[in-house]
Amino acid sequence: MIKICFVCLGNICRSPMAEFIMKNKVERLGLSDKCLIESRATSYEEDGNDMYPPAKRKLDSMGIAYTKHRATRLEHDDYEKFDYFICMEQSNIQGVCGIFHDKLDKVSLLLDRDIVDPWYSGNFDITYDELDKGIDRLIDRIRKQIL
Ligand code: 4NP
Repeated sequence: MIKICFVCLGNICRSPMAEFIMKNKVERLGLSDKCLIESRATSYEEDGNDMYPPAKRKLDSMGIAYTKHRATRLEHDDYEKFDYFICMEQSNIQGVCGIFHDKLDKVSLLLDRDIVDPWYSGNFDITYDELDKGIDRLIDRIRKQIL
């Protein structure tokens, strides 16, 4: 079982979108029972809130199923629960660094550049395309561990 946590600032746009896109891909690969996939925020800004409606609409338009979501801040104890913490932008890594007291061995970026926050940009099409590409690369990266 491989345990992955996607991380963004608010946990209402990018990281839950990534969670549900990846769940869809691993389901299609028949690997759902080998993967635990969740998401978290580095802030309490949106604590308890569901995914942002434009994020849901984008997932709907792409045929990606999702369940009711509750934004949840990453906590220190989560370090032991997951194998990988996959961040959306460099500033998330700084946030995680503070929460995990500098333990960053499990922490990386989804892409080799920041994924722009659609909560500010309003462009969920670009976000989706970047998440989709990053998650394909992530699955390639971890495939050996789950096959
Ligand atoms: P996310 O977007 O990090 O992709 O979920 C944001 C959503 C809300 C806030 C910031 C980013 N906020 O500050 O409330």
